[in-house]
Amino acid sequence: MIYLDHNATTPLDPDVLESMLPFLGNQFGNPSSLSRLGRTARTAIEVAREQVAALAGASASQVIFTSGGTEANNLALLGLSQVAKKGALAISAIEHPSVLSPALDYLSYQGWDTHVLPVNTSGIVDVNTLETSNMADLRLISVMLANNETGVIQDIAGIANDCRKHHIMLHTDAVQAFGKIPVNFKTLHVHSMSVSSHKINGPKGVGALIVDPEITVQPLVYGGGQEKTIRPGTENVAGIIGFGKAAELAAVSLEQHMLSTTQLRDELITRLLKLDHCTIFGVNAPRLPNTVQFAIQNVDGEMLLMALDQAGIAVSSGSACSSASKAPSHVLQAMGVDEITARGAIRISFGSASTTDNIDSLMAVINQQLSSWMFDDE
Ligand SMILES: Cc1ncc(COP(=O)(O)O)c(C=O)c1O
Repeated sequence: MIYLDHNATTPLDPDVLESMLPFLGNQFGNPSSLSRLGRTARTAIEVAREQVAALAGASASQVIFTSGGTEANNLALLGLSQVAKKGALAISAIEHPSVLSPALDYLSYQGWDTHVLPVNTSGIVDVNTLETSNMADLRLISVMLANNETGVIQDIAGIANDCRKHHIMLHTDAVQAFGKIPVNFKTLHVHSMSVSSHKINGPKGVGALIVDPEITVQPLVYGGGQEKTIRPGTENVAGIIGFGKAAELAAVSLEQHMLSTTQLRDELITRLLKLDHCTIFGVNAPRLPNTVQFAIQNVDGEMLLMALDQAGIAVSSGSACSSASKAPSHVLQAMGVDEITARGAIRISFGSASTTDNIDSLMAVINQQLSSWMFDDE
């Protein structure tokens, strides 16, 4: 199988698995216990905290482990909204559902005046809207660092500067950027940032919220004192340790990973643009090195995805989280892409094991399908 869907999830690195195994076996201590077993688990968690913090450009004390990016985003939006004076909230139109839904389905019903910030045709958040919005009433903004579908990267540090000037809290969802490009919590200057393990060859079901030490986040659930009481409950020890190891490995290979995926991305774009009527979304914007989202005129994305799947090539027709719904991508629609073109979208996301041979195989199937569909039309 050729796997070209690394923005959906990544395979577990064998070294990560190895780091986890003792904690699924003999090292089963509760990290809150004072026994030797407990202390071993606690020490390993604290090592993982350092490893995640290092990749995020933060201090270990700022890392709150969660069950993943979804929970981290919910914790940020709901947890920060409880400490801010109720007012206006702004999110970008291209956010992941784990930001869109807490804002639009929950906080707006709690009396928050929720604004959706538009993006331009390249997928960049229109910061002018921020300037013309009523800053005096804005308390909280959430803009993602890199988009899961297009890979488009936002100027979060620039937005953060405006936010800090106006005492607005800024959260960024860095789930897709983390481990793919350098991410530095300090220089981004945000108040909180979400990251996830399974996008960087770590286990599923674990992530973290990185928090500015100057601010308070209210918990979503109440219980014991774990994770500074912000995220109580006995820790997912093996998961956290795997996440830490994955972050450590990602830090070591980041430069090489960026180089190899950039080459693959650019090679794929060159070859796609040789096809008639192929659109690459966000092509003029800064983008993740591993991501290409495109559509070919008159080609249905789902049909192409199925054809590729039958040929043993895994890709995505948009975001994995919304691929069950038949609605065209909200991200592309926000970029002004018409509905028919948006329905043609295919996302290719490369990983460390991807090769140019993979691109050859992908293009062979695409070309084969295009000619067979042309025949069918005659
Ligand atoms: C941008 C973005 N944010 C958040 C998430 C959710 O992360 P998790 O799967 O760890 O809940 C995803 C997952 O696809 C994502 O792409």
